[in-house]
Amino acid sequence: MDADSKARWETLRLSYGETRGLPALVDEICKLYEQVRPEGVIVGAPQECIYLAMMALLQPGDHVVVTYPGYQSLFQIADSLGCQVDLWEVDLGEDGGASFDVAKFKALLRPTTKLAVVNFPHNPTGVLLDAAQWSDLVEACRAVDCYLFSDEMYRLLEFCPTARLPSAVDVYDKAITLSGLSKAFGLPGLRIGWLAVRPPCYPLMARVAELKDYTTICGAVPSEVLALAALRSREALLRRNMDILRANLTAVEAFMSEFEHVFKYRPPAAGSVAFPRLAAPSEDGGVGSGDGGAGGVEAFCERLVNGCGVLLLPGTVYDHGPSSARGHFRIGLGRRDLPECLEKLRGYLRSLSGSTGS
Ligand SMILES: Cc1ncc(COP(=O)(O)O)c(C=O)c1O
Repeated sequence: MDADSKARWETLRLSYGETRGLPALVDEICKLYEQVRPEGVIVGAPQECIYLAMMALLQPGDHVVVTYPGYQSLFQIADSLGCQVDLWEVDLGEDGGASFDVAKFKALLRPTTKLAVVNFPHNPTGVLLDAAQWSDLVEACRAVDCYLFSDEMYRLLEFCPTARLPSAVDVYDKAITLSGLSKAFGLPGLRIGWLAVRPPCYPLMARVAELKDYTTICGAVPSEVLALAALRSREALLRRNMDILRANLTAVEAFMSEFEHVFKYRPPAAGSVAFPRLAAPSEDGGVGSGDGGAGGVEAFCERLVNGCGVLLLPGTVYDHGPSSARGHFRIGLGRRDLPECLEKLRGYLRSLSGSTGS
């Protein structure tokens, strides 16, 4: 801990904090961006930030375009409010890879579109647009003058550092960037995230601050001091977390090539999740009950968790037909014990293929 954070920690009073966040923390958040001033930041739990921004921005009937499948509240709040929600769906390849086609995004935009919601690096696929696609997307938003809510929770976790995109808030003045400490910084228990905007969105932030009186009023003050210390040590924290991710990515790669008759896998471009698929979902890759399709990957994951205690998240939880039908599942890359989990899976899959003779 730097000396100032340590002094704050040691003299901490457990009274209410500031609605928009501890000022020193807000200053530190501004350093992550080129165009953001303290008036453009509000601190909250990341999920709370999504909820408050959507509540502040949207009215029944508004048109919204959202990346899909994805983190549920990114589309569900708009839907629950009675908005017209168009889903910008991922394209899934035979090889287990995924991509988002910006031309499809542009085709969904209307002159009346109120909001585009995007999430790159993307949960669950790990897709990251390239710089040209990103600027194409931003220009399309500018052309219809819609707000752009950019969920950047997995930003800073690019496996190739030059692939990092500029934050939406730095390239578009009607962007609302969401970020936080839960993913890249590995500190979800702090419950600290933030919204960052530029002056055209200040009225929106004022509304978010009012609505926050109905959720948490202010952040947890111990968490804000710990978040301040974390951001001031961001290089060390990010290095630590990228080391874990890189080691896990290598382990997953070796595992997937050993079981290429069972899985199809393309590594994620960024983030701490990957989204492989079963090679033969209708037959469960030759290691399952053969109950087919969506049931295939769900049944497959259930057998694994019952058989060896390792939980893979079946794509069916995303309610997205194509990824369910292709047998996609999500695997987390962020924990140090992933190699041990892969070892258990390896033993289990070997025992199954031994027993089926394949
Ligand atoms: C894409 C995305 N956005 C937002 C969140 C919310 O973060 P938190 O759980 O820290 O509130 C998550 C959490 O999984 C996420 O995956």
